[in-house]
Amino acid sequence: MATTNSRPRLQYLLHLAQDNLDFRLPEIKALLALRGKPFQPNENFKEKSPFWCLDGLSEEDVRGIMARSVCAKSAFELWGHGKTHSELRTSLLNYPSENMSPFMHKDSTYRINVYTFNKTLEFSDRIKRIDALEYLPFDGAVSLKSPQHIFCLMEDYGTDPNNIPENPDYIYFGRWIADGQRELIRSHSVKNRHFIGNTSMDAGLSFIMANHAKVKENDLVFDPFVGTGSLLVACSQFRAYVCGTDIDYNTIHGKGRSSRKNQKWRGPDENIRANLRQYGTEKMYVDVMVSDASKHVWRAAALFDAIITDPPYGIRESTRRTGSHKDVTRPPDSNYVESHVPVSQAYHLSDIFTDLLNFSAQHLVIGGRLVYWLPVYIPEYCEEMVPLHPCLRIISNCEQTLSSHTSRRLITMEKIKEPEELDGLFHRADPRFSPYQGHNAFREKYFSGVNKRCFTVPDGPGLS
Ligand SMILES: C[S@@+](CC[C@H](N)C(=O)[O-])C[C@H]1O[C@@H](n2cnc3c(N)ncnc32)[C@H](O)[C@@H]1O
Repeated sequence: MATTNSRPRLQYLLHLAQDNLDFRLPEIKALLALRGKPFQPNENFKEKSPFWCLDGLSEEDVRGIMARSVCAKSAFELWGHGKTHSELRTSLLNYPSENMSPFMHKDSTYRINVYTFNKTLEFSDRIKRIDALEYLPFDGAVSLKSPQHIFCLMEDYGTDPNNIPENPDYIYFGRWIADGQRELIRSHSVKNRHFIGNTSMDAGLSFIMANHAKVKENDLVFDPFVGTGSLLVACSQFRAYVCGTDIDYNTIHGKGRSSRKNQKWRGPDENIRANLRQYGTEKMYVDVMVSDASKHVWRAAALFDAIITDPPYGIRESTRRTGSHKDVTRPPDSNYVESHVPVSQAYHLSDIFTDLLNFSAQHLVIGGRLVYWLPVYIPEYCEEMVPLHPCLRIISNCEQTLSSHTSRRLITMEKIKEPEELDGLFHRADPRFSPYQGHNAFREKYFSGVNKRCFTVPDGPGLS
């Protein structure tokens, strides 16, 4: 009998969630790259489809991807496919019997699921679909509760809910291999998180960011605008060591006003470390500290495997209650009065990104990734607005729409070379790498009037 290792080249089918569509391809590509595998879709690949057939992978690769993906729901070893049930039958009957037989012998138990995308089938129709597969040589016994092997017939009725065809556009049949990590979105929901703020990053997007960054076990990941540490939570889940900085004393020390509805002040243990403890990853916590990202404190060296961050851009921050001028008049501990950095001067958005790219070019290891959000005023957006740096190559640029006029883009960059002069970093006003420099129309229009209280830095040399 053939073993799973000796079987000929197989195709695998990913079933993807139909949310965050833009983020799926970079996620799967990044997870493949982590395993040294290229993305090889079959000839019918459609990026917006919920089904992707991939070549050139082993079952171990697929299990590895599913152990990390929050965009993919499930993965299957593809046994057959076609535009009609008749084509599916031909395809299944041509599938090598040595690939099927290990999962169909008489001592095995199995179950067949029927899944339809963009259409609901009556129970009786599902049974009919299963009965119609009688040509498959299943010798084992059906077990609905705890089968050894699960098979799935998947019918794709397209992506237009207003135009559902009578018959499926495409049909697949495969052996279930593994589910993705969609459960993490629920288990790590900020609703049930110990320490949260008004700008805590959604759990699903945090995991997507960690995946785009190719975070892996024992990496050191840094978030320069760490807030309540949602991105550290996600990265620690993938066994990376995590650290961060934030200018807000209260956030870092878990003090001040609570963001919760029925609670005025933060409790004694509301801090980032406690968040990691909540999810059993405290041992991956390095530390966080109060520090201004525009005047970082790190020695000039490639320290981090990934830099993942959600910089302040004054949209959601404008509604926050903690950390405003009104709430934070002075640090609670008088020991800090002398060294305390007063919130005093606007930190222009263009400068935030220039500093972030410069910092990443200097402090990422080669091949390390920077993943960050860029706010966008849609009518003015063009790709040239994405900040560039000669040491960082753009890997992906995915949009999340926020309103009819605004969105934010998740930018992933990879460090390709060391900065030429370690001391003389690229200046903010250098048009070679920062199209954001100057008061361009984008910035004028989008940011005039937005609340800049939360991305302010002290006055000082080096600021343009
Ligand atoms: C969008 S929030 C980050 C939210 C975070 N991802 C979370 O899940 O809670 C941006 C953070 O940047 C911090 N910040 C603003 N200006 C800063 C600066 N100059 N240096 C460092 N942090 C700054 C703010 O205090 C805020 O916590």
